Amino acid sequence: MKIIHISAECYPIAKVGGLADVVGALPKYQNEIGADSSVIMPFYNNKFTQSHKFTSVYESNLKLGNQDLNFNILKIVEPVLDFNIFFVHVGDLLYTESVYTDNDTNRFLAFQIAALDWILTLKEKPNIIHCHDHHTGLIPFMAQESYKYESLNKIPVITTIHNAQYQGWMAYDNLYKIPRFNIEKVGLLMWEGMINSLAAAIKCAWRVTTVSPSYMEELKYSANGLESLLSHENFKAVGILNGIDSDVWNPETDKYIIKNYKKSTVEAGKKANKKWLCSQFNLDESKPLFAFIGRLVGEKGAELLPYALDYALRSKDISVIVLGSGSKDTERQLFDLIPRHSGNYNAYIGYDEKLSHIIYAGADFLLMPSRVEPCGLNQMYSLRYGTVPIVRRIGGLKDTVIDIGDKGFGICHNEVSIQDIVHSITRGKEFYGQQKEFKINRKRIMNIDHSWKVSAKAYVDLYNSIN
Ligand code: ADP
Ligand code: GLC
Repeated sequence: MKIIHISAECYPIAKVGGLADVVGALPKYQNEIGADSSVIMPFYNNKFTQSHKFTSVYESNLKLGNQDLNFNILKIVEPVLDFNIFFVHVGDLLYTESVYTDNDTNRFLAFQIAALDWILTLKEKPNIIHCHDHHTGLIPFMAQESYKYESLNKIPVITTIHNAQYQGWMAYDNLYKIPRFNIEKVGLLMWEGMINSLAAAIKCAWRVTTVSPSYMEELKYSANGLESLLSHENFKAVGILNGIDSDVWNPETDKYIIKNYKKSTVEAGKKANKKWLCSQFNLDESKPLFAFIGRLVGEKGAELLPYALDYALRSKDISVIVLGSGSKDTERQLFDLIPRHSGNYNAYIGYDEKLSHIIYAGADFLLMPSRVEPCGLNQMYSLRYGTVPIVRRIGGLKDTVIDIGDKGFGICHNEVSIQDIVHSITRGKEFYGQQKEFKINRKRIMNIDHSWKVSAKAYVDLYNSIN
């Protein structure tokens, strides 16, 4: 079965968040079970593209409204991943350092058109086109309703919603940039008077998936305006829990961490990583270390962190490290806490892949007080590294973490509030105090298998059901 994933991000080439991790792993696991899975993504001007050689496999041009644009499909000369990956280079439009910019309407429109133009020319057409998030949300519509892509309209197109908060709204006049389509079907593109890429994808894709079963249920009540649409299209919707790349996220082989470890050596391994973190960040290694890694945005409950941490740190019996970037206000508040709690708290404001691995390895607890969490990968990484997740019961967090009070292995709270975060930190401290149980739990959580094996097959079964 030939599968083409189309995505704005793919680890390790370009990563902003979990979307990249998923698209960088799922195809590999699908290939392991006999599929022929590849990825099409934009060609960005970043460290990865600057340090690899590319060759062009296809060249053409496209029209974006009045603009004539040349585009190339490139591939890497010396393959570095376990699956084929093709890059769309459309002049300077996609060739930006950041994955997302202020001109994304044109950038991702051109990307989607170029990807479909190329697929049109392939001798061996894919059996499935699998689109990810709103950046590829017009593909299900174009493949179905554009005269230009008529010969593709029998290919099932799937859309995975990683995050329904972001929907790819476009002004109505962008309609004329979409290649020749059946104008009677214009309603499929629209939502509340504008083009809405995600809504179009939900209407036109053969199947819609979300990245956890609970998130699928939650979207029917809270989907940033798309609730009724999702309820209406429920018959073709399914929640499939993300997995993790257990080769990349493996404390036994992780090249980023200070000391590798496995279950039998977890205590010494975590101790060495914690020691390094505490010496680098001026923290007290004798205290339980709580960490937060993530985008500093409302969805992650990040704006409450400065208040909750300030309160929890008053008792001077915990250490805390934060790694994240996002809202400038939250960044500043988290930064301002450093002198107030010097020796017990530190924050690295920015993005650092290596540091994130060391934190998963060295921390005792990982905080995820998310307001919305379609799946969440951090809690699954932390489990694999023997770090106890402290999560709000929502979306994928609800599907992957069970509270120690319910014979589980993590700490869960119901609300996104300062009180709930502080209370969970207190419960964490108490649990840490019961060293025997705490150490047994560490080994237990490292055993939980969240690798992609199960979910990669769930996707292939879904593809088979519509082929
Ligand atoms: P989301 O995609 O909503 O941001 P996920 O939990 O799915 O959340 O994935 C987040 C990914 O991004 C994880 O791999 C996490 O380690 C990584 N990450 C988030 N913020 C940072 C950061 N500041 N530095 C390094 N890695 C980060
Ligand atoms: C999104 C979601 C996150 C999910 C990730 C990968 O960014 O916010 O919860 O884990 O996509 O699917």
